[in-house]
Amino acid sequence: MPRPMFKSAAAVAAVFVACLATCSRASRAGGFYEDFDVIWDEEHVRVTDDGGRRQVVTLTLDNASGSGFQSKDQFLFGEFAMEMKLVPGDSAGTVATFYLTSEGDAHDEIDFEFLGNVSGEPYVMHTNVFVQGTGNREQEFYLWFDPTADFHNYTVLWNPNNIIWTVDGVPVRVFKNHESSGVPYLGGQAMRVHASLWNGESWATQGGRVKTNWSDAPFVASYGSYAYAATACVAGDGASSGCPPNAAPGDAGSWMDRQLGPDDERAIAWARENYMIYDYCNDPWRFPQGRPAECNLDRHG
Ligand SMILES: *[C@@H]1O[C@H](CO)[C@@H](O)[C@H](O)[C@H]1NC(C)=O
Ligand SMILES: *[C@@H]1O[C@H](CO)[C@@H](O)[C@H](O)[C@H]1NC(C)=O
Ligand SMILES: *[C@@H]1O[C@H](CO)[C@@H](O)[C@H](O)[C@H]1NC(C)=O
Repeated sequence: MPRPMFKSAAAVAAVFVACLATCSRASRAGGFYEDFDVIWDEEHVRVTDDGGRRQVVTLTLDNASGSGFQSKDQFLFGEFAMEMKLVPGDSAGTVATFYLTSEGDAHDEIDFEFLGNVSGEPYVMHTNVFVQGTGNREQEFYLWFDPTADFHNYTVLWNPNNIIWTVDGVPVRVFKNHESSGVPYLGGQAMRVHASLWNGESWATQGGRVKTNWSDAPFVASYGSYAYAATACVAGDGASSGCPPNAAPGDAGSWMDRQLGPDDERAIAWARENYMIYDYCNDPWRFPQGRPAECNLDRHG
């Protein structure tokens, strides 16, 4: 089956049965184009088979263009996982992303952005959250592995309780719902899944001091398996809209109900202690009038 991996086995089986019945999908390129639209430069996006094992999508950046894709569906809550293998070698100036965003000016957005570096120097994993058009909630980390050597899982869990950023199953950041204390939260706007590779040389690498070295182009970031079919609620009133079974708020044990447990708290503390390089909550220069309210409500911040 040319479907990407870890969608639910049931979904894969259903497609397989449908194909046995009609074989109408046999000639299609497969999962990626069923789930995503290329929205930035077809010429720079390739869908390939990684030794027949699975689909790999490569995004390319050169002096002509970057590239990107977005999900066809919009979602209101979900757990979204993406395997990524970042630009190897001299990736200075490049920014590879996996994020969720709504449309319009007062948009909501949840980000993973990977800021490249000169060969041998560490990538920065930049995270942010925009609520109704306002971001300024950056946290940045180094990674505990070489993100260019192999695929790793990057996951956003977004439910009414909190947003949790996870790397290979290790939670590194949480943004809690503090609406009851007057802090706006994300839940009123449906978002699409996005991925892109672009030139961020004005700011990305060592504060913008190191520019993209175009003689090393093309730069290539790879996206592997993605998963959210079984763990996200499709917004709208189409046939596929609605939440998967057992994913109502309050359904114990479901992603929809998840909050940090003691192990998760320990993991976040570990990531902060060992790998965090920037936290907006600890940047008084940026917030001379006082830091954002959620910083004072959260235990670590
Ligand atoms: C872009 O890169 C191509 C291939 O390396 C090169 O031939 C071309 O001159 C470059 N164009 C610009 C505007 O730098
Ligand atoms: C990502 O997570 C999925 C689901 O747990 C797993 O099957 C897959 O092997 C993981 N990929 C990597 C690169 O660790
Ligand atoms: C790049 O390497 C420098 C030197 O090690 C480091 O200060 C910086 O945080 C690294 N990452 C980026 C994206 O600049």
